[in-house]
Amino acid sequence: MKEKNSPVSELILQLRGVDVSKYDDSFLNKSLQKRIRETHCITEESYYNYLEQNNKEGEYFLDSLNISYTGFFRNPLTFAVLEGIILPSIVLKNANTKRKEIRIWSAACAAGQETYSLAILLEELKNGDNEKMNFRIFATDQDDVQVNEARDGKYFAAALNNVNLKRVNQWFTKPGDTYSVKQELKMNIDFSVFDLFSEQLGCPPASIFGDFDLVVCANLLFYYKPDYQKKILEKTGNCLVNDGYLITGEAERDVLMRHNYREVFPQSAIFQKIACG
Ligand SMILES: C[S@@+](CC[C@H](N)C(=O)[O-])C[C@H]1O[C@@H](n2cnc3c(N)ncnc32)[C@H](O)[C@@H]1O
Repeated sequence: MKEKNSPVSELILQLRGVDVSKYDDSFLNKSLQKRIRETHCITEESYYNYLEQNNKEGEYFLDSLNISYTGFFRNPLTFAVLEGIILPSIVLKNANTKRKEIRIWSAACAAGQETYSLAILLEELKNGDNEKMNFRIFATDQDDVQVNEARDGKYFAAALNNVNLKRVNQWFTKPGDTYSVKQELKMNIDFSVFDLFSEQLGCPPASIFGDFDLVVCANLLFYYKPDYQKKILEKTGNCLVNDGYLITGEAERDVLMRHNYREVFPQSAIFQKIACG
């Protein structure tokens, strides 16, 4: 039986046509309490009335649910294992099977830091001993504002704290106050808007058929209820090649372990599907 939505969730559905019941209860409640404090409403009942009477509040409430915090090389262990073990092994496997390119989906790319971190590692591999290697990254997010920022690739210095100086000098220019990602790093990336709950689309249309060696779906699962986490994992899992890799956030490793995935290196948050039968 479907759980009953809170009055505020019902009102959001009426006013904005968005069903927020997919969000994890405690996350939803924390966001609601924050909006109650910020609007000085004190009780949920008075917030309900405020929401009913203030056109813009529905939008602010929904914005408060869209957390876009991210960073370059966000989980250092994941990126170290990717750089040292996983990506070189994909290069080798693809060379042996004569596959034309490495295909990656950065499935909740926010403002692009995750995607450009992956691109830096791949460019470095290419410039090492693998000049024949090709790659393509399909970077998507449900939020068009984030996708436009990602495509733009402009960051304040503080955002580059986890990027070493050699990489900053090689892959960024600094025309003014901000650092800009060089065009050559953007060349193999396709940015687009994509909702992981889309009923119509199984993978980013630009990728045509998915077929990804690696999908990064990090730091969004924990905002959703288990049934919705399952939907996301089905979608991303269906787009992987046999033996493909799925990466989550550090705090989401348990979710994957409950869904028939095994972690390929302890604590790395890099997983492969356990073959059935
Ligand atoms: C906290 S950020 C994480 C960004 C990056 N993956 C990382 O690990 O640093 C979560 C991102 O997930 C996106 N997101 C949330 N739900 C989504 C959905 N249903 N489909 C696509 N993107 C979604 C948000 O817009 C946001 O940019």
